[in-house]
Amino acid sequence: MAYSGPFQPGDRVQLTDAKRRHSTIILEQGGEFFTHKGGIKHDDIIGSHEGTVVTSAQGGQYLCFRHLMVDHVLSMPRGAAVIYPKDAAQILIEGDIFKGARVLEAGAGSGALSMALLRAVGETGHVYSWEIRDDHIGFARDNVEEYFGTIPDWWTLRLGDLNEVTPDDTDGPVDRIILDMVEPWDCLDTASKLLIPGGVLMTYVATVPQLMKTVEKLRELGCFTEPRSWETLLREWKVEGLAVRPEHRMNAHTAFLVWARRLADGTVAPRPQRRARK
Ligand SMILES: C[S@@+](CC[C@H](N)C(=O)[O-])C[C@H]1O[C@@H](n2cnc3c(N)ncnc32)[C@H](O)[C@@H]1O
Repeated sequence: MAYSGPFQPGDRVQLTDAKRRHSTIILEQGGEFFTHKGGIKHDDIIGSHEGTVVTSAQGGQYLCFRHLMVDHVLSMPRGAAVIYPKDAAQILIEGDIFKGARVLEAGAGSGALSMALLRAVGETGHVYSWEIRDDHIGFARDNVEEYFGTIPDWWTLRLGDLNEVTPDDTDGPVDRIILDMVEPWDCLDTASKLLIPGGVLMTYVATVPQLMKTVEKLRELGCFTEPRSWETLLREWKVEGLAVRPEHRMNAHTAFLVWARRLADGTVAPRPQRRARK
């Protein structure tokens, strides 16, 4: 799949009309897309640059860009709620997902995070995605395949409970683990046995009780650093003439992120010092 350059057959292209309505097409030589303003010939788009305008048979004008990963994630079919792009961005940077990294995630859900991880680690890395539900794994597989145009060779997607995974299933310890599931605390002991010393673990949980249980379990296990917890609020702004202000609506809450690093076996981390109460 091409991410830039002139349009080629097979590209997923987003057409935007004057009312900012989007339609997505997959380019085929000789293909045609029918709009209420007549047909658009795919051959008029193939070979042109992104950001050009194509005109339909009855004069409708459509701006053409390739579908971005974020467009795909927000429009693809879902079995389970996806990790939102603002949180996936945090996971990629705070979770230190590097090119060549070996990353384990569970559950795969709809495959939104799988896509971001696969693209970040690249073909020299590997993503292992575990998913316990048969119906969800189908969404993950189809969505990833549709985005990349094929199933990446550096992806292992398995049906099963993360708690049954052993280091043999992941060809040894992994560099990073991301958990997005209702009860991550039940899988933290297993995760600790699969993560390399120094490896980063992140969990994504929606509610305060989940956050509390996750952090308490990480402390109890004793093989992780003191966890950090946060959420990210994203507020878009309207910028039109003098009307420069925050948008009225926002997705105020998606989830909390919890972050910790695996200690070397046998290490007891110094306890965080808290100021004594007067
Ligand atoms: C919210 S979804 C994950 C969404 C996914 N991160 C995405 O961005 O599309 C949570 C998934 O975790 C799966 N799950 C829950 N417990 C699990 C376990 N112990 N092992 C593997 N998958 C599990 C559920 O079946 C569900 O599909």
